[in-house]
Amino acid sequence: MKYRDTLLSPELSAERSKYVSLVKERISGTGVLAFIQTFGCQQNEADGERVAGMAVEMGYGLTSDPAAASLIVVNTCAVREHAEKKALSSVGQYKHCKKQNPDLIIAVCGCMASQEHRADELKTKYPYVDFTFGTSDLYMLPELLWKRLCGGKRMFLIPQDEPPVAEGIPVVRASTYRAWVSIMYGCNNFCSYCIVPYTRGRERSRCPDEVEKEVRGLIADGYRDITLLGQNVNSYGRDCSFDCNFAQLLARLSSIEGDYKLHFMTSHPKDATRELIDVMASSEHIARQFHLPAQSGSDRILKAMNRHYDLEKYLGIVDYIREKLPDAVLTSDIIVGFPGETEEDFEATLDMLRRVRYDMVYSFIYSPRKGTPAGRMDGQIPEEIKGERLRRLLDVQTEISNEANHRYAGRNIRVLCCGRSTNDPNMLEGRTEGNKIVLFEGPPELEGSFVNVEVTDTRPFALYGKKLK
Ligand code: 5AD
Ligand code: SF4
Repeated sequence: MKYRDTLLSPELSAERSKYVSLVKERISGTGVLAFIQTFGCQQNEADGERVAGMAVEMGYGLTSDPAAASLIVVNTCAVREHAEKKALSSVGQYKHCKKQNPDLIIAVCGCMASQEHRADELKTKYPYVDFTFGTSDLYMLPELLWKRLCGGKRMFLIPQDEPPVAEGIPVVRASTYRAWVSIMYGCNNFCSYCIVPYTRGRERSRCPDEVEKEVRGLIADGYRDITLLGQNVNSYGRDCSFDCNFAQLLARLSSIEGDYKLHFMTSHPKDATRELIDVMASSEHIARQFHLPAQSGSDRILKAMNRHYDLEKYLGIVDYIREKLPDAVLTSDIIVGFPGETEEDFEATLDMLRRVRYDMVYSFIYSPRKGTPAGRMDGQIPEEIKGERLRRLLDVQTEISNEANHRYAGRNIRVLCCGRSTNDPNMLEGRTEGNKIVLFEGPPELEGSFVNVEVTDTRPFALYGKKLK
């Protein structure tokens, strides 16, 4: 497929601008506000920043108070049942806002709203929701909003089969020093447990020139931490005719001058290459951090998950990372209680944790997703067993994380100060290039700058330090 085939056409782009102007004219001078609430992963955060960008482009101010808003957009997640429940309960809470202000527009977008059965549910059971749109239809917000403002019918969009890449959507970033940059959208992997390929559609890569332009702009604006996002960044460029894979893109971006670190996520082990690890080792601008979700340590379960690698291949990548980047922070996602997971399979996962010695693991109880192959599999594991496995996994990993963090005791490290700690407002929170949390004392004005810190104490989930002069 040619890259330009996936780009939003100039006609649709012009139409989008027309709707932006129409809304802008309508609300001009009224001082109306928009409240945008985002759940879920970094990709969703990035989408939320685009929704905010379009709201501002149309003339809305932004508010963190839903009661003060004339437009509420709930940007939802669907990765586990809990995420969907949270999003639905949030939508439910805005019913009373609509009662107070009948002109309020309530929209729901994101992964949950991208599923047909959920869009139907929102239509029938949430009559105060004005419209929904999917992750790949973000650019349509101005049109949907305009039509509804003009008294049009409620709308519940079904995701497009081959959605376009819309460039030029404005962004309002939540931070002035950490930024998300989507390098691609969608997912082609169809891991058997995962809803994302159904909610985000097939892979579409952005053109490397566009990505570079955005990253250059961020560095020029003083951004220090830039995370390249994709469901599987390792397949970047495969859907297109431009000659650039992810390792090459990373090499190109990291050659930009400046004081910054590039991060990326997520990297599917089936496509992680030595070339990528070599590029990481060759540039100071690429953070020594590798999030490499294993999901399970059992070959039988990996096969049932449709992951396309086995433990041996996975450990081979880990060993190459350790050889080339001995200081790299290595993290993983693990699912416990996948259908058919036996005690022996689970033990294999624990053995893998002991062998790899991750810095941190994000562990999840398997949650059946409607429409996925695993949701229909026999051998669903009872909740008590899933819960018990999660606790055992956390026990094993907490000890490993503790040991991994202890290696930092007494070291001097450079961290990016991210403002006051939410848990302890007397302390500042910094992030190492591997994204470890470091708490230290200092003036809040340090937020957004790199600070040298001596690590004085370590815990399983954080480091403590003293700011160096
Ligand atoms: N149940 C539990 N965890 C899931 N994940 C994805 N789908 C599911 C599911 N159905 C986890 C995977 C993925 C992370 C983002 O969420 O570990 O890497
Ligand atoms: Fe992100 Fe997946 Fe949740 Fe969608 S379902 S918001 S892609 S974690």
